[in-house]
Amino acid sequence: MIVSPYQSLVLVLEREQSDQNPGCMRELLNILPPISPSMTTSQRKIEHLQICADKPVEAHIPAGFDDIHLIHCALPEIDKDDIDLSTELFNKRLDAPLLIASMTGGHPDTYKINRTLALAAEHLGIGIGVGSQRAAIEDQKHEETFRVVRDSAPNAFVYANIGVVQLAEIGIAGVEHAIEMIDADAIAIHLNFLQEAVQPEGCTHASGCLSAIKEVCDAISVPVIAKETGAGISRETAVALVDAGVAAIDVGGAGGTSWAGVEYYRAVSSGDTMSEHLGRLFWDWGIPTAVSLAECSGCGVPIIATGGVRTGIDIAKSLALGASLAGTALPLVAPAMEGVDAVIDRLSRMIAELEIAMFLCGCADLSDLKTIPVVTCGMVREMLDANTRV
Ligand SMILES: Cc1cc2nc3c(=O)[nH]c(=O)nc-3n(C[C@H](O)[C@H](O)[C@H](O)COP(=O)(O)O)c2cc1C
Repeated sequence: MIVSPYQSLVLVLEREQSDQNPGCMRELLNILPPISPSMTTSQRKIEHLQICADKPVEAHIPAGFDDIHLIHCALPEIDKDDIDLSTELFNKRLDAPLLIASMTGGHPDTYKINRTLALAAEHLGIGIGVGSQRAAIEDQKHEETFRVVRDSAPNAFVYANIGVVQLAEIGIAGVEHAIEMIDADAIAIHLNFLQEAVQPEGCTHASGCLSAIKEVCDAISVPVIAKETGAGISRETAVALVDAGVAAIDVGGAGGTSWAGVEYYRAVSSGDTMSEHLGRLFWDWGIPTAVSLAECSGCGVPIIATGGVRTGIDIAKSLALGASLAGTALPLVAPAMEGVDAVIDRLSRMIAELEIAMFLCGCADLSDLKTIPVVTCGMVREMLDANTRV
């Protein structure tokens, strides 16, 4: 019998988990799609989600927030209940500076997850990104798994998503199609060359990507967000992206979900020893989120903090470092499988934590956060000091 990589994943998961958590395994099996050779992109998306739900995929290096200290104000002189968390991004109001970072769509089983995430975003008045829309551009039967986000969050800031390596293939028409699909307020072009380099089926044709981004920025009517996915963005790259016309940068720094780590688990299940080796070796590759934020802030466009943002204190520190918003992905995977209330609870906790951090720094609104003193030490300080430009 020939066992496909997908079937092996099931077998590995089954072996590893049936004893420990039979309920969880049942849930996993419920979400697994039927095997079809024509479903490669779609199938990969569900494998990624499954691995993120079930395996320790975070980087072993920190995102750097522990090295950032906000100064406690013993006399805040504001009332906590009066703190205003609202903000705007591209003329759209958000009730808190928080995004559900791009994750999923493109497989039938992701419909419910995207609906759950979108209902939570609408309820909380925050933003939401969809995962890469490549699967729906390749096969329009997957479009509904993305459309459900706009249908469930008619007032939210919703952003589309496509990989930079897909731009050559889909062209401007494909990008416009992705935006129209969800009536998006913006589109994120994700940069994920670490994952592409580790993935056996990855695309490593990176030449010409910057001019492709520029072409998209020039041609389309909604703002373009350049978004890393866990390896961070340096100041040089941020400047080049701003010159190309991007309207915001999501640093997607190291210290949160490791895509080399996710690919490691896929490789183990498929018996691909090369990708297994590469995934392990590059697991912690990248610029920690806090360092990337310090590098990119002040480059002329709004900065978004993702990569290991886990608490409201991390959000407060991100904003104090110059970000306009923060986003989180991995912590929402399990709640999204549970239901809308679980996602709302997880995000409400982060928002309440942010409010307390602001109260204890004497910040009545988000603009105050940008003016408070920030003490940077440890690895983050050393990395910034070692870089003579910062
Ligand atoms: C299950 C899952 C799927 C993801 N898929 C995408 C994607 O399709 N496109 C994208 O730009 N980022 C994707 N990401 C990356 C996140 O948007 C985010 O940048 C990254 O995970 C770091 O944030 P975190 O540490 O909070 O997870 C995905 C993340 C997760 C956990």
